[in-house]
Amino acid sequence: MVKVYHDNDIDDKILKGKTIAVIGYGSQGRAQALNMKESGVNVIIGLRQGKSWEQAEKDGFRVLTVLEAAKTADIILMLVPDMAQPTVWKEEVSLGMSKGKTLQFAHGFNIHFEAIEAPKDIDVIMVAPKSPGPELRRQYENGFGVPALVAIHQNASGKALKTALAIAKALGSGKAGIIETTYKYETESDLFGEQAVLCGGVDQLIRRGFKVLVEAGYPPELAYFEVCNELKLIVDLIYKSGIGGMYRAVSDTAKWGGLTVGPFIVDEHVEQNMKKALKDVQNGTFAKAWMQEYKQGSQKFKALMEECDNLEIEKVGKQVRKMSGLEK
Ligand SMILES: NC(=O)c1ccc[n+]([C@@H]2O[C@H](COP(=O)([O-])OP(=O)(O)OC[C@H]3O[C@@H](n4cnc5c(N)ncnc54)[C@H](OP(=O)(O)O)[C@@H]3O)[C@@H](O)[C@H]2O)c1
Ligand SMILES: [Mg+2]
Repeated sequence: MVKVYHDNDIDDKILKGKTIAVIGYGSQGRAQALNMKESGVNVIIGLRQGKSWEQAEKDGFRVLTVLEAAKTADIILMLVPDMAQPTVWKEEVSLGMSKGKTLQFAHGFNIHFEAIEAPKDIDVIMVAPKSPGPELRRQYENGFGVPALVAIHQNASGKALKTALAIAKALGSGKAGIIETTYKYETESDLFGEQAVLCGGVDQLIRRGFKVLVEAGYPPELAYFEVCNELKLIVDLIYKSGIGGMYRAVSDTAKWGGLTVGPFIVDEHVEQNMKKALKDVQNGTFAKAWMQEYKQGSQKFKALMEECDNLEIEKVGKQVRKMSGLEK
């Protein structure tokens, strides 16, 4: 059984008098910085000049260059994109580190795949909220939080777990539950989840479902509603009450059809593909290829995003969302 912590299990005195530098002010950076500030933590932001800098100042933060922020703070939280982290670490953050400080991540990628090697005299911790940044912020504003994982890679101070738990609590995650894990488990399961199910798997199910209906002559707007728009309602049911709860909320015909045809659509062959994807995550093949793609200028990455933007479902979806007031 995993170990789960809640607010009452956590002593946050360890953050008293400490300064936390949030490096990067994007999806996670902004949400985490605001949540921690409102929980009473002394937060500064480390950035390069640009849009994020302006936003962080507008939100009332003291903003410094990445190097200055790393020098000033006791805990340095790396929230620039994973692919940018090794350079930001090498050229700036590492120059501001000294014995006794803490380096923190929200995802284990660069530590686990050894793209960043930290000096031995600092703590290396992870606090990974299990949601996109805006949702982390929304839940906190509603007086709740999203679940988070914590993990320790280096424990030079002997207090690394205490620090990680106190930060997770400041993010609001102690209300939902904080699970202790390892860098390896977090990194590999996170990559697998987003590839096989959450992003990649769901994307392909929607794309292919839409294509099959439209090629068979059904109106694209109708196809969009059936295979995409309604997905949110189904996922909300699963989120709240499990797969059985979802089935109990739909018609008996939908239950029978889903339970009998579902395994024919996503079959053993898909499971074999998932196993192959997991293997590539575990043996570093995926990480290596992605780092190489990024280093070579991300041409393929950009082309795939463009291809996605040009899909018929994307164009129809935009119209439908505008028509129904979901998108401006
Ligand atoms: N997004 C999620 O839902 C999610 C969930 C859990 C964990 N995580 C993890 O959280 C971390 C951050 O991800 P994210 O999605 O929040 O990133 P993101 O939104 O893409 O981060 C963008 C921010 O990083 C800054 N930045 C980019 N390159 C920089 C550089 N070279 N020097 C200084 N600042 C730079 C950007 O500033 P500019 O405006 O100047 O470009 C911007 O403020 C990652 O480790 C990710 O795996 C993300
Ligand atoms: Mg991820």
